[in-house]
Amino acid sequence: MLKGKHIILGISGGIAAYKSVFLLRLLVKEGAEVQVVITPNGKEFITPVTLSSLSQNPVICDFFTANTGEWHSHVSLGLWADLMVVAPATASTMAKMATGVADNMLVTTYLSAKEHVMAAPAMDLDMWAHPSTQRNIEQLRRDGVEIIMPGSGELASGLSGKGRMAEPEEIVRRIKEYFSRSRDMEGMKVMITAGPTCERMDPVRYIGNYSSGKMGFALAEECAARGAEVILVAGPVSLATENPAIRRVDVESAVEMCEAAEKAFADADVAIFAAAVADYRPAETAETKIKRENADEMTVRMVRNPDIAARCGMAKRAHQTTVGFALETDNERLNAAHKLEKKNLDMVVMNSLRDNGAGFRTDTNRITIFGRGGSVTEYPLKSKREVARDIVDAMLLQRRGADATADLSDN
Ligand code: CTP
Repeated sequence: MLKGKHIILGISGGIAAYKSVFLLRLLVKEGAEVQVVITPNGKEFITPVTLSSLSQNPVICDFFTANTGEWHSHVSLGLWADLMVVAPATASTMAKMATGVADNMLVTTYLSAKEHVMAAPAMDLDMWAHPSTQRNIEQLRRDGVEIIMPGSGELASGLSGKGRMAEPEEIVRRIKEYFSRSRDMEGMKVMITAGPTCERMDPVRYIGNYSSGKMGFALAEECAARGAEVILVAGPVSLATENPAIRRVDVESAVEMCEAAEKAFADADVAIFAAAVADYRPAETAETKIKRENADEMTVRMVRNPDIAARCGMAKRAHQTTVGFALETDNERLNAAHKLEKKNLDMVVMNSLRDNGAGFRTDTNRITIFGRGGSVTEYPLKSKREVARDIVDAMLLQRRGADATADLSDN
């Protein structure tokens, strides 16, 4: 399954480095081409001779090879790789990765890596629990690094607790999982709405909301990374897209968003409505700035905006899948299930404003997914990029289920 895949194995200085030998062995056995990059401290734990014998490649540690003066290019290494796995990732290496301290080949290569990066932390339990480590892990997650969580058990210090590097078999399983999902949206067209809408009152004022657009943008990156062609219809946000497979259409109001979304939807296989669309807009937009009157109150008459998700839901054809969001403050489950029906969605992703770390302006989210067939799946608090992965996985599963049902009825 890993045949021909180019993998950089980054090894930093922890006792768990001995497990990396097994990891390397398994990767090579699976047909991967592995380039080991080790930190100077890593070399204290495991000899490069063992690693180069197994990988059939010289091990890179320094920027230069001392006797030949050869320079190791982290840039070409970064371009060569399909994946970088840092295992073990010590507290110190993660801190450097999180802050960009590129004082060794491993971190320098990480900063040049264009493809996906995974890190398998390994350390003693107190180091693991320290707020500084947790902060760095959070930052790495935000930067898109997939963390392969350590297990609990006996540690090299003799203590027992969390911090033990995931077993090599588990890391290989995650690597295979990554490659199997990596292009599983190839050929699909996805339309995503994201961010708030701004409803103009006059040339200087609007009615808006707190949506940052982070969830919708994370979904766009996830779909594009998995091979989909993405049209991202974005309300006013201060975010940038990274993947060139994302075509972005910037809009301001709900009416503009509706027009762009419906146009893109006609040609889409999947639509994800992650935008916080204003339900109403001012009935009149003043041409000139509204002046303060000599009155204590002001009334703005509002009219209904189009419901983009519902309109696309109405127009939906058999091969199209629609996913909506529900941000609720109370009666969460009932409201989410109701939305599924009302907007003819295939899936509703619910987040509750009652949860800490979920909702607007956060980098994390805690979701529950309601599927068409009545399925309800709850997920723990995760970074928005990881949440995006879960949503896409669930959506593809739902599509495969629908395809399977269609296949059955065809027979
Ligand atoms: N949505 C939309 N267009 C609108 C309003 C909402 O596309 N005009 C989409 C959102 O992007 C989201 C879902 O519909 O995916 C749920 O939005 P929400 O505002 O919670 O639903 P409403 O139907 O407006 O219900 P309520 O106001 O009762 O919560």
